[in-house]
Amino acid sequence: MLNFTFHNPTRIQFGSGQIVALNAEIPDDARVLMIYGGGSIKSNGVYEQVKSALGERPVFEFSGIEPNPRYETLINAVDVIRQNNVDYLLAVGGGSVIDGVKFIAAAACFEGDDPWDIFTKRAPVKRALPIGVVLTLPATGSESNTGAVVTRGEDKLPFASPLVRPAFAILDPQVTLTLSPRQVGNGVVDAFVHTIEQYLTYPVNGKVQDRFAEGLLQTLIEDGPKALSEPDNIEVRANVMWSATLALNGLIGAGVPQDWSTHMIGHELTALYGIDHARTLSLILPAMMKVRRDTKRDKLCQYAERVWNIREGSDEEKISAAIHATEAFFRKMGVPVRLSEVDLGSEAIPTILNQLEKHRMTRLGEHRDIGLDISQRVLETAL
Ligand code: NZQ
Ligand code: ZN
Repeated sequence: MLNFTFHNPTRIQFGSGQIVALNAEIPDDARVLMIYGGGSIKSNGVYEQVKSALGERPVFEFSGIEPNPRYETLINAVDVIRQNNVDYLLAVGGGSVIDGVKFIAAAACFEGDDPWDIFTKRAPVKRALPIGVVLTLPATGSESNTGAVVTRGEDKLPFASPLVRPAFAILDPQVTLTLSPRQVGNGVVDAFVHTIEQYLTYPVNGKVQDRFAEGLLQTLIEDGPKALSEPDNIEVRANVMWSATLALNGLIGAGVPQDWSTHMIGHELTALYGIDHARTLSLILPAMMKVRRDTKRDKLCQYAERVWNIREGSDEEKISAAIHATEAFFRKMGVPVRLSEVDLGSEAIPTILNQLEKHRMTRLGEHRDIGLDISQRVLETAL
C-alpha cells in the first residue's frame, strides 16, 4: 500500500427530511448566498424546503448555473457577494452547481488579477468562503471532495483545494426522485467510473480499498438499473446516493495508484461537443480497458472475478468477458459506448488530440505513460 493522508471533514446529513438540518449547520448570523442551477429545485419543492430551513437569516440568490458550469456565468456571482457582504455559500444542486460554487468561493477571495489563473497557471487558492451543500443529483462526489471542473470557451479544466471542500452536505434521497432517467443513468455511470479509476490500475495489496471499491461497483451494478426500472424505490435511491458520495470522497483512492485518463479525455469531448460528462466516460472507458489490458492485466482479472463473478476460462477470456459486461451495464443505464452513437467519426480524433496537447494531458494514467499515441488508439477503439 502507498503512503497517504486521509482527512475528510465534510459532515454528512443523510436521509429523508434532512434539509431541516441546514438551520443547525449554518451560523445564525451568516449572510447566505443560495446558489442553484436552471430551476429544477423550484419545481420539486427543494427551494421551499431550503428557504424555510434557513429561517430569518439574510438570504440572497444566484441562479442559472448551467450543466458543465461556465466561468463567464460564475464570475458574476462574485459581484453579488461583494455587494451584499455575503459570507456563506449554499450550493443547492448537482455537481455543476457545487463545482461552480467551489470556484465562486475561491474567486471571491482571490488576490491576483484573474481567478481563471487558478486553472491555467495553478495560482494558489489561499482563502475561500465556506460552502454548504444540498445535493440533488448523486453522481460526482463533489459534495464532499476538494475538486471542481469549470469551462471557459473550449477549455474544461479541473482544480482542487482543501479550502473549497464543503463544510457539510445534506443528502436526502427523496429529492432525487424527480431526476430524469437520463440523469439517473448518468449519475450511476459517473460514480461507477470514479470507482474504476481508483481501482483498475495495478495491485499494491490495498485490501480494504479494493474491497470497498468492489462493494461500490457491485452496489451500482445491482441498484443502478433498479433506479430506472423502479423509479419510486427510495431504498434504491438511498444506496445509489451513498455509493456516489463514497466513490469520490477520498476514501477508496487513499493509498492506491489512480488513473484519471478516461476522465481527462472525456472532459475534451464535453468541451468540444457538449456531450454529458458521464456519457463521455461510457464512450471512453471500455476502449481504455481494451487498449490497456496488458498493463492492467492483474486488476482486470480481479475485476472480472470479484465484481462480475467470472470464474471460468483463461485470464484473457475473463478479461474480455468483464469488458463486455461493463459495456452491457452501461447500455442498461442508457448511455452510449461507441463514438458513432453520438455521431462522431475518425475525423474528430485529431481535434480531440490537439485539445489534449493544449491542456498538457500528455502523460496520463497510473504510470503516466498515456501519451497522445495511446490516447489516439483509445479513441480509434471507441469509434
Ligand atoms: O440546473 P437544474 O435545473 O437544477 O437541472 C439539473 C441539470 O439540468 C438537473 N437536476 C439536478 N438535480 C435534479 C435535476 N433535475 C430534476 N431533479 C433533480 N433532483 O440535472 C441536470 C444535470 O445536472 P449537473 O449538476 O450538471 O449534473 P452532475 O451532477 O452530473 O454534474 C456534472 C458536472 O460535475 C463535474 C462534471 O465534469 C460536470 O461538469 N464533475 C465534478 C467532479 C468533482 N467535483 O469531483 C468529478 C466528476 O468527475 C465530474 O467531472
Ligand atoms: Zn466523473
